[in-house]
Amino acid sequence: MRKAIIRKLRQSDAEGASELFNGVIRELKGYTAKEKKREINKHSAKALKAQLKERDPLFMAAEVDGKVVGIVEGYIPPNIRPRLLWITWIVVDKRYRRRHVGSALISGLEMGVGIKWQMVQCGVRASNSASNSMFRGLGYKKVGVIKHPDSVNSYRWEKLLQPHHKRGRVNA
Ligand SMILES: CC(C)(COP(=O)(O)OP(=O)(O)OC[C@H]1O[C@@H](n2cnc3c(N)ncnc32)[C@H](O)[C@@H]1OP(=O)(O)O)[C@@H](O)C(=O)NCCC(=O)NCCS
Repeated sequence: MRKAIIRKLRQSDAEGASELFNGVIRELKGYTAKEKKREINKHSAKALKAQLKERDPLFMAAEVDGKVVGIVEGYIPPNIRPRLLWITWIVVDKRYRRRHVGSALISGLEMGVGIKWQMVQCGVRASNSASNSMFRGLGYKKVGVIKHPDSVNSYRWEKLLQPHHKRGRVNA
C-alpha cells in the first residue's frame, strides 16, 4: 500500500466521508440500532459539510491514492478546564485496516490541535477489541467506564500530550 497522507478533511470529501462513516457504523458491534441511526444521521454529507465549516481542523482524513480511507473526528467541549480534546470517532475502511492508518490519524489529530489541548480522551465500547488495543498502543490509559444504559459500556481512555507536540503533518 502507498503511504497514507494525513490531512484535514475538506468540504469536497463530504460525500465519500459520509459513505465511509455509514458503512463502518452499520457494521459496528456494541451499538443499538437507535444509536447507529443517530450516528449515521450526524454523518450525512450535508451534516458533515455544516460541521466542517465550524470544526476545522477537528476532522482529519487519511488519503491513499486520492481516496479517503480513514477519518478521525474530534470535539472540544466548551467550558471544560483544563481544556480537553475528545475523540468522537475514528473510522478506517476495512480494506485498509491493520496498516497503522488509524494510529496515524490519531497522532495527526493530536498534532493538528497542538499543545493548547493537552488532555485527550475518548470512549470505546468494551466489546471493541481493535479500537481498545489501538488506544492502549498509542499510550492512552484506561481511566474509567462510561455507562450506556441500553447497550455495551465504554472504557474512557486518556492521554496527556507531551510539550514537544507541535503542529504538523504525518505520513502513515
Ligand atoms: C479501530 C480502527 C479504527 C483501527 O484502525 P486500524 O488502522 O486498523 O488500526 P492500526 O493499524 O493503527 O492498529 C494499531 C494497533 O492496534 C491494534 N489493533 C488494531 N486492530 C486490531 C484488531 N482487529 N485486533 C487486535 N488488535 C488490533 C494492534 O495492536 C495494531 O498494531 P499492529 O497491527 O502493529 O499489531 C478500525 O479497526 C476501525 O475502523 N474499526 C471500526 C470503527 C471503530 O470501531 N471505531 C472506533 C469507535 S471508538
